[in-house]
Amino acid sequence: MAEGQALRFTFSDRVLVGRAGDTVASALIANGIRSWRRTRRGGRPRGIYCGIGTCFDCLVDIGEEVAVRACLRPLQEGDRVAPSGSVGPAGP
Ligand code: FES
Repeated sequence: MAEGQALRFTFSDRVLVGRAGDTVASALIANGIRSWRRTRRGGRPRGIYCGIGTCFDCLVDIGEEVAVRACLRPLQEGDRVAPSGSVGPAGP
Protein backbone atom coordinates (compact mmCIF):
# COMPACT_ATOMS: atom_id res chain seq x y z
CA MET A 1 0.00 0.00 0.00
CA ALA A 2 1.41 3.36 -0.99
CA GLU A 3 2.14 5.85 1.79
CA GLY A 4 -0.63 8.45 1.82
CA GLN A 5 -3.19 6.32 0.00
CA ALA A 6 -6.75 7.13 1.12
CA LEU A 7 -8.28 4.68 3.61
CA ARG A 8 -11.96 4.70 4.53
CA PHE A 9 -12.90 3.99 8.14
CA THR A 10 -15.72 4.80 10.51
CA PHE A 11 -15.88 6.41 13.91
CA SER A 12 -19.15 5.76 15.71
CA ASP A 13 -20.71 4.95 12.32
CA ARG A 14 -19.51 8.22 10.75
CA VAL A 15 -17.61 7.51 7.52
CA LEU A 16 -14.19 9.19 7.47
CA VAL A 17 -11.07 9.10 5.32
CA GLY A 18 -7.51 8.71 6.59
CA ARG A 19 -4.19 8.05 4.91
CA ALA A 20 -1.93 5.02 4.79
CA GLY A 21 0.75 5.64 7.38
CA ASP A 22 -1.66 7.30 9.81
CA THR A 23 -2.26 5.90 13.25
CA VAL A 24 -5.91 5.70 14.25
CA ALA A 25 -5.32 8.71 16.50
CA SER A 26 -3.75 10.84 13.77
CA ALA A 27 -6.56 9.93 11.39
CA LEU A 28 -9.19 10.95 13.96
CA ILE A 29 -7.42 14.25 14.61
CA ALA A 30 -7.04 14.90 10.88
CA ASN A 31 -10.83 14.56 10.69
CA GLY A 32 -11.34 17.14 13.43
CA ILE A 33 -12.00 14.64 16.24
CA ARG A 34 -9.79 15.60 19.19
CA SER A 35 -11.37 13.50 21.93
CA TRP A 36 -13.00 10.11 21.59
CA ARG A 37 -13.80 8.80 25.03
CA ARG A 38 -14.73 10.09 28.49
CA THR A 39 -13.15 9.41 31.87
CA ARG A 40 -14.97 7.12 34.28
CA ARG A 41 -14.91 9.77 36.99
CA GLY A 42 -16.21 13.13 35.89
CA GLY A 43 -16.79 12.25 32.25
CA ARG A 44 -13.93 14.42 31.06
CA PRO A 45 -12.96 14.13 27.38
CA ARG A 46 -9.84 12.18 26.43
CA GLY A 47 -7.91 11.73 23.21
CA ILE A 48 -4.15 11.96 22.74
CA TYR A 49 -2.02 12.70 25.79
CA CYS A 50 1.41 11.04 25.59
CA GLY A 51 1.21 9.89 21.98
CA ILE A 52 3.75 7.11 22.66
CA GLY A 53 1.69 4.30 24.15
CA THR A 54 2.24 4.81 27.87
CA CYS A 55 -0.78 6.70 29.28
CA PHE A 56 -3.73 4.75 27.82
CA ASP A 57 -5.78 7.94 27.43
CA CYS A 58 -6.40 7.21 23.76
CA LEU A 59 -8.25 3.89 24.03
CA VAL A 60 -10.71 2.94 21.33
CA ASP A 61 -12.46 -0.23 20.27
CA ILE A 62 -11.85 -1.30 16.68
CA GLY A 63 -14.27 -3.92 15.45
CA GLU A 64 -13.85 -6.86 17.86
CA GLU A 65 -10.63 -5.48 19.37
CA VAL A 66 -11.22 -3.73 22.69
CA ALA A 67 -9.11 -1.14 24.47
CA VAL A 68 -6.72 -0.45 21.59
CA ARG A 69 -4.25 2.39 21.95
CA ALA A 70 -5.14 4.66 19.05
CA CYS A 71 -1.75 6.37 19.14
CA LEU A 72 0.04 3.11 18.27
CA ARG A 73 -2.38 1.27 16.00
CA PRO A 74 -1.86 1.84 12.25
CA LEU A 75 -5.10 2.73 10.49
CA GLN A 76 -6.42 0.01 8.19
CA GLU A 77 -8.98 0.15 5.41
CA GLY A 78 -12.47 -0.50 6.81
CA ASP A 79 -11.60 -0.06 10.49
CA ARG A 80 -14.75 0.37 12.60
CA VAL A 81 -13.55 2.64 15.41
CA ALA A 82 -15.65 3.45 18.48
CA PRO A 83 -15.11 4.96 21.92
CA SER A 84 -13.70 2.21 24.13
CA GLY A 85 -16.43 0.27 25.92
CA SER A 86 -13.82 -1.04 28.38
CA VAL A 87 -13.73 2.29 30.20
CA GLY A 88 -17.37 2.71 31.00
CA PRO A 89 -18.94 4.63 33.87
CA ALA A 90 -17.27 4.32 37.26
CA GLY A 91 -19.09 2.64 40.08
CA PRO A 92 -20.72 4.59 42.92
S1 FES B 1 -1.90 8.79 23.94
FE1 FES B 1 -0.95 7.83 25.62
S2 FES B 1 -1.15 5.71 25.17
FE2 FES B 1 -1.97 6.69 23.43
